[in-house]
Amino acid sequence: MTESNPAIAAAVAHLRRLSNKHLYGGKLQDPISGMAFPVVSPATRKEVGSAAQGDAKDVEAAVRAARAAQPAWAAMSPRARGRQLVEAAKQLNDHTEEIAALLALETGKAIRTECRVEAKVLADAFEFYGGLGSELKGETVPFASNMLTFTQREPIGVVAAIIPWNVPLLLMALKIAPAMVAGNTVIVKSAEEAPMSTLYVVEILSKLLPPGVVNILSGDGPTCGTPLISHPSIGKITFTGSVATGKIIAHAAADRLIPTTLELGGKSPMLVFKDADLERTVAGAVSGMRFTRQGQSCTAASRIFVHNSLLDKFVQSLSDKVNAMVIGDPLDEKTDIGTIISDQQYDRVKSYIALGEQSKGVQALHLSRLPQAPELKNGLFIQPVIFTGVGNDDRLAREEIFGPVTCVIGFDDDEDAIRMANDSDFGLAATVWTSDLKTALNATKRLQAGFVQVNQNIVVQPGLSYGGVKQSGLGKEASLEAMLDHFTSKKTIIMNMD
Ligand code: NAI
Ligand code: MG
Repeated sequence: MTESNPAIAAAVAHLRRLSNKHLYGGKLQDPISGMAFPVVSPATRKEVGSAAQGDAKDVEAAVRAARAAQPAWAAMSPRARGRQLVEAAKQLNDHTEEIAALLALETGKAIRTECRVEAKVLADAFEFYGGLGSELKGETVPFASNMLTFTQREPIGVVAAIIPWNVPLLLMALKIAPAMVAGNTVIVKSAEEAPMSTLYVVEILSKLLPPGVVNILSGDGPTCGTPLISHPSIGKITFTGSVATGKIIAHAAADRLIPTTLELGGKSPMLVFKDADLERTVAGAVSGMRFTRQGQSCTAASRIFVHNSLLDKFVQSLSDKVNAMVIGDPLDEKTDIGTIISDQQYDRVKSYIALGEQSKGVQALHLSRLPQAPELKNGLFIQPVIFTGVGNDDRLAREEIFGPVTCVIGFDDDEDAIRMANDSDFGLAATVWTSDLKTALNATKRLQAGFVQVNQNIVVQPGLSYGGVKQSGLGKEASLEAMLDHFTSKKTIIMNMD
């Protein structure tokens, strides 16, 4: 199809070259057990590579490498560490086309609307944190006049980063870049569904950083994740993924009394008040629902509360916009919407769509068209769906679907909209759409969510604190304080001068 494109040809070659490998201690490594699992393109369902299956022995070897590297890495000045990450950002920027193609091949996300964007933000995250080395400052404390009292920030040691498949590169960067600048060494466990793009990025990093500073293992949760999160030399676990796995990780961390950061799911409300600018709001719903990522986003606007005076127009206009989007080959520049990541997720999303179709009073609008090309006929494509007539208590409005499915729910009273928005187990993100400052301030103040936007819905950005409340997680990522609070330990030093 697109093999004549040099970036895609290079990505295909990387997939072969990196097959059946972990990377630790500065080198590509064979899995000690010899086990591997196939990497399948969800668009063609063809095998595009093979990933090493890590187990406790690989974990042991990677932890040993990370531990050995940590003291010398921590002894470097923070700015010198940061400079290495800024250099890494340049290298990543030079490779964005290949990174994007690799990501599209293994995840089925569209290259133009998603993968290239992610590859660029990946580099941006390294540049951002690379510049923050000198911010690892302590404080002087006016405790007593005869005592010099101060704090210093120290690295924790070896950090385990467990990442998902939906935005694997950015989510990995937002964990490992601050951890490394702060003087920790890291071991990434990639997601089974997206092991190769992360491995390629770690390979680029490891060519610049001292051996053992950045390490990556692939493998499933039970075989590779379990020994990693329970290893006695891991000092911190940072995780993004499902609530269920987040709780397993929190238990493992509790057993060893180590800190964790958890970024879990969402059922993020979008509140459209009666004075909202309709055109802008509809465009915001398209980007906010992350239709170009097949809705596989923890911040997807999957519950849209619309004032009843705007409801019909809103649904019509949103349907028109989504109908105009192209579902197709992820590697094709014309494609807006690619595929669902895996059979498991495909079946899960389909089961929610079936649930809606069987529910009394619920209407389903199936939008855009499935691709017709013969080579894509087995691809994991799903048409976006807008449900109307859903109650906020229905499973469709309560559970994270993680697919291109949103529920539009009408309201008359603004208070009702805020109450319904907060009536959720989750509290990750929320957006408010209005032309009235008072309405905006009232809603943003009262919404139970960690990341709230007015009249826009953009994704997490380096520099902005990001993280949820309730079942959506613990701790913050992406900002300066995310590095300070989550990847360092503060020591208080009191010197008696008498
Ligand atoms: P998951 O939470 O099981 O997987 C995420 C990561 O955790 C993967 O690297 C996986 O290998 C690892 N993992 C799984 N079990 C583990 C264990 N016992 N110990 C250590 N690591 C373990 O999520 P999954 O199964 O891929 O997706 C299920 C649902 O989770 C999705 O439908 C979606 O609702 C939610 N999800 C949310 C994400 C977010 O961005 N917050 C990302 C991915 C999934
Ligand atoms: Mg799972």
